[in-house]
Amino acid sequence: MNVVQIVPKLEPYMLEVEETLQQTINSNTRIMNTITHYILRASGKRLRPALFLTAAGLDKPAPRLVDTAASIELIHTASLVHDDIVDQSALRRGMPTVNAKWGNEISVLAGDYLFARAFTLLTQSGCREIINILAAVIEGMSVGEIEQLTDAGNTELTEEDYLDRIKKKTACFMAGVCQAGGVVREAGREELGALYDFGLHLGLAFQIKDDILDFQGQEKVTGKPVGSDLRQGIITLPVIHLLRFGDGREDLSRRIRKGELSEARLQGIVREMQRVESLDYCLGLVGTYTERARKALEGVEDGEIRENLSRILQANVSRDY
Ligand code: IPE
Ligand code: IPE
Ligand code: MG
Ligand code: MG
Repeated sequence: MNVVQIVPKLEPYMLEVEETLQQTINSNTRIMNTITHYILRASGKRLRPALFLTAAGLDKPAPRLVDTAASIELIHTASLVHDDIVDQSALRRGMPTVNAKWGNEISVLAGDYLFARAFTLLTQSGCREIINILAAVIEGMSVGEIEQLTDAGNTELTEEDYLDRIKKKTACFMAGVCQAGGVVREAGREELGALYDFGLHLGLAFQIKDDILDFQGQEKVTGKPVGSDLRQGIITLPVIHLLRFGDGREDLSRRIRKGELSEARLQGIVREMQRVESLDYCLGLVGTYTERARKALEGVEDGEIRENLSRILQANVSRDY
């Protein structure tokens, strides 16, 4: 999923976002500087700043927009640094995670540093409404991640619980950045609502896709360890489906609760998922939420903005990283 290939007009903006990111993460403290530059060495999809810029319209003088877009990516990056601690993950964007290299304590602080840099940059661009939107996003993400953590191993989790959680931890972020794009061009209340709704449903589809890739993806392509959610006891949608329709449910529940999941067992789980079509079921829901997002786009200014957002939405469906 390459945002510049999807929306070529993004290119000059994204180049400036990269420059701003590099400048913003500089620190006089050597260790912090080493870590933040290490983090930026491997680039992610840059989806959230791309959504913000696209929703704002790509015909504006850039500086303020670029600063906000860069701070959005910094917030996302900080949340990943913290998420990798919580998930005890060793690989991110194809490189060892900050926690794998420097340990949890240092990683917490590096994440805090990135959040702080993001807000310094945001206050420079000066839009209070956008600062509020992004603060609420972080609040929701923290709650979603805590709920996920405290529910680890809970095999009673329902699809409804799962959807509520991914809304908080992922979808509200996409909703917020799309809405923020509308705020920049002073869109009316109804259009802001439509942009939010678009981002929310795209975000739901995006996280379900991520959770499918955790079982079906290739580590070399996703840059993240495969099968890691379940190994951590995190019950995602494919597992909820499997626990409902697969064979040996009691045994699977017990193993998840006890954290007894060997590599061979995980492969057996993926085979059983294929047999009862758990991943197809999840892909079906990706389609459902993609359609809802598309419907929301009807409330977004006709023309280039709508077309570009629609292209980004579609790219999520078939992405493999
Ligand atoms: C990862 O987000 C966290 C999720 C919400 C699944 P991305 O998949 O956008 O991560 P990067 O920025 O491309 O690495
Ligand atoms: C999304 O969840 C993380 C955040 C919202 C910060 P995941 O834990 O599934 O993300 P990945 O798979 O590690 O990127
Ligand atoms: Mg994670
Ligand atoms: Mg994941």
